[in-house]
Amino acid sequence: MGNQGLIRANRVLVALFLFCFLNIPSARAEVTWDLNGMTAVKGATYVGTETCAACHEKEFKEFQLSTHSRIAVKDVPEGVPQGCEMCHGPGSVHADQDGKRGTIINPRKNPEVCFQCHMDKKAEFRLPFHHPVLEGKMSCSDCHTAHGPEVRPWTTTSMNDVNETCFKCHAGKQGPFVWEHEAVREGCTTCHKVHGSVNDKMLVARDNNLCLRCHTQMNFPTIGKQNHGTRLPQGTCFSAGCHTAVHGSNYDDHLRY
Ligand code: HEC
Ligand code: HEC
Ligand code: HEC
Ligand code: HEC
Ligand code: HEC
Ligand code: HEC
Ligand code: HEC
Repeated sequence: MGNQGLIRANRVLVALFLFCFLNIPSARAEVTWDLNGMTAVKGATYVGTETCAACHEKEFKEFQLSTHSRIAVKDVPEGVPQGCEMCHGPGSVHADQDGKRGTIINPRKNPEVCFQCHMDKKAEFRLPFHHPVLEGKMSCSDCHTAHGPEVRPWTTTSMNDVNETCFKCHAGKQGPFVWEHEAVREGCTTCHKVHGSVNDKMLVARDNNLCLRCHTQMNFPTIGKQNHGTRLPQGTCFSAGCHTAVHGSNYDDHLRY
């Protein structure tokens, strides 16, 4: 893990501990979650992952490989959420009533539970251009598999998995194109900040810098084989009249349309 990763991990761990302490139930263990009006499971207590495993073998098995399973801390005090219950909330009522509807939190319907630990993500989804998660039109689990190892496909070596996820909803970007743009193969996230961004279309940068990160050369303002000296001040590389087909083109080898 790099420094960045460590800092991030620390931040989340702090969040994790805050989360734990804030949620330590009283001696009577009367737990009521108030996650923005999400099902408060009144009177429920924590029963532990083993209890869930008895009825949800599939999720239990998948979960062994996930990041969230690996962050589990050993020997936590009783009443502190672990394993399944850190996302699903206390499960005693649900287990006692054989999985009756409405007795357990399902984060698909509300991401608040994720924000208990990933506080910074909520801020990202509040940026002016974002995927409509807070609006309830989609969920974290459209892109992240909460139980499986795929919660983290996004290493530099497997950026393909990211694109596959995006193609589920943005099929038009999949091609195949006669002229592909190699940048897309490196992953949609080279140009888009998909939780949210201050830039239109969730772009990483709003101007030519988006493209010049890769397309600078010694004899700038020549780009490719063309002198772009008069073009660059006219607008962005990807606005009308220029390289509007940034994701790939069937008509033009310079991705103009
Ligand atoms: C005695 C069996 C049993 C136990 C123990 C059990 N469940 Fe369930 N659970 C079920 C059944 C059955 C359903 C399906 C309900 C339905 O689809 O109507 C279910 C559904 C769910 C759902 C989906 C609920 C929804 O509204 O979408 C979640 C999440 C869940 N269980 C999590 C857990 C967790 C976490 C634990 C451990 C704390 C657990 N379950 C323990 C039987 C159980
Ligand atoms: C990191 C958070 C997280 C943890 C930890 C977690 N889950 Fe889930 N769980 C989710 C999310 C998110 C969904 C919604 C998935 C979806 O939309 O497909 C979900 C859905 C479910 C469902 C409903 C599945 C369905 O098809 O409707 C069950 C059952 C379930 N989880 C059981 C478990 C069990 C058992 C564990 C522990 C072994 C566990 N979960 C741990 C986040 C989590
Ligand atoms: C109890 C705290 C907690 C909850 C609740 C929680 N997470 Fe996490 N999550 C963590 C920690 C800690 C990490 C590891 C951070 C790291 O390595 O940078 C993590 C990592 C992740 C990662 C990155 C995986 C990786 O391997 O880098 C994703 C994606 C993620 N969580 C999504 C979710 C989603 C979606 C939910 C809600 C369904 C959720 N988390 C709920 C604590 C939590
Ligand atoms: C539109 C798809 C999408 C949705 C929806 C989404 N994510 Fe992500 N998430 C990603 C991608 C892609 C990455 C990898 C980002 C990168 O490498 O630049 C990521 C990375 C992460 C990470 C680990 C890296 C980091 O930035 O710390 C966490 C944690 C995370 N997401 C949590 C969440 C939570 C919580 C939600 C729901 C509130 C959510 N995500 C919804 C696509 C999505
Ligand atoms: C579950 C479906 C779904 C998935 C998966 C998904 N998106 Fe989206 N995406 C949407 C929706 C819905 C919008 C909002 C459209 C709107 O507001 O008109 C959107 C908007 C966008 C926009 C802005 C479009 C605009 O016109 O402003 C971009 C860029 C984008 N998504 C990229 C991605 C990338 C990259 C991924 C993969 C990491 C991804 N999406 C995954 C559903 C999805
Ligand atoms: C080389 C940078 C780059 C890469 C890589 C990239 N995009 Fe884009 N994307 C852009 C730019 C620039 C725009 C804005 C175009 C405009 O304003 O007309 C855009 C716009 C979009 C839009 C909204 C407008 C539209 O054309 O529908 C969606 C959706 C989108 N991208 C999805 C994706 C997906 C999915 C991937 C990965 C397969 C991806 N992008 C990869 C640069 C990129
Ligand atoms: C992650 C790096 C990267 C980014 C960012 C990127 N490109 Fe590219 N682009 C490439 C690579 C690699 C090629 C193929 C090799 C080449 O021709 O330079 C390419 C090729 C092209 C081509 C075809 C080459 C030609 O001769 O016409 C055009 C046009 C292009 N890119 C435009 C853009 C635009 C516009 C942006 C910004 C929206 C952009 N690129 C952002 C890496 C990138």
